[in-house]
Amino acid sequence: MADKEGNIDAKDFGIGIEQKHEGFFLKGCQNLDWGMKSRLARVFNPKSGHAVMLAFDHGFIMGPTSGLERIDLTINPLLDYADCIMCTRGILRTLIPPTCGKPLSLRFDAGTTILTDLNDETLMDIEDAVRMDAALLASMVAVGDPAHEGSTIRNLTRTVDLGMRYGIPTLGVTAVGKNLVRDARYLALASRVCAENGANVVKTYFCEENFERVTNSVPVPIVIAGGKKLPEMDALTMAYRAINAGAAGVDMGRNIFQSDSPVGMLLAVRSIVHDAQTPEQAFKLYTDYKNTHKA
Ligand code: 5RP
Repeated sequence: MADKEGNIDAKDFGIGIEQKHEGFFLKGCQNLDWGMKSRLARVFNPKSGHAVMLAFDHGFIMGPTSGLERIDLTINPLLDYADCIMCTRGILRTLIPPTCGKPLSLRFDAGTTILTDLNDETLMDIEDAVRMDAALLASMVAVGDPAHEGSTIRNLTRTVDLGMRYGIPTLGVTAVGKNLVRDARYLALASRVCAENGANVVKTYFCEENFERVTNSVPVPIVIAGGKKLPEMDALTMAYRAINAGAAGVDMGRNIFQSDSPVGMLLAVRSIVHDAQTPEQAFKLYTDYKNTHKA
């Protein structure tokens, strides 16, 4: 209990010195609550303003994807090199050590697989996301999919409502789909729909032309998915061009864990995302690592 007598008088009030206040480093996030900002600042590096997220949630629609057959063997050695991990609760609880210290972008929706009809999704309970200390709730939106556009936008809206209740930011994910084009017009529209409905961060695909229109159409940070495996130099060039067009980071999977040197690729991608390295400089990092760490 505090002493009632003999206390030193409080006198250092800093009269005349204005109280310091700092803005928040992420686009569109300045008016969020403390918990939201704290979680975002665990995912995005406050110094660079950027993030390298490692996505390995593919199994929820694709089953045992190449490179993810044994997550304990292939992904766990990569965790130290990522700023954030993105996965399902099943993989998190069974295989990811809680001591890894990485913020979690939790796959918050679940639904149909590549064997039937993608994007027919439901949401899990928010209490379970809280139990797992989620830093982001990832929910997919299938803009332009006549069968599932409405239900996935409702899912995103619900995710934002739940996230706001508990101070967990929402990651709106623009969907993959056989008939969904990936040009700037579509990606800007889909990303904007996510942001308008309250997503705090948007994950979308890179497009070769006019990607800056996508990043500039959205008032919140954008991270890009990597998509199918590319030659390493092409994947690094994509990351470089995305960052230079205004993306706040990458949320990559296959171009990391399907590489012949996943750690080398993560180091190379990090050098682009955080240290403004060119694709050529990053590629050298990847090859140097690969050559000195042969299996
Ligand atoms: C699917 C996802 C995946 O996590 C995403 O596609 C990232 O993986 P990749 O870089 O392999 O495309 O969000 O909805």
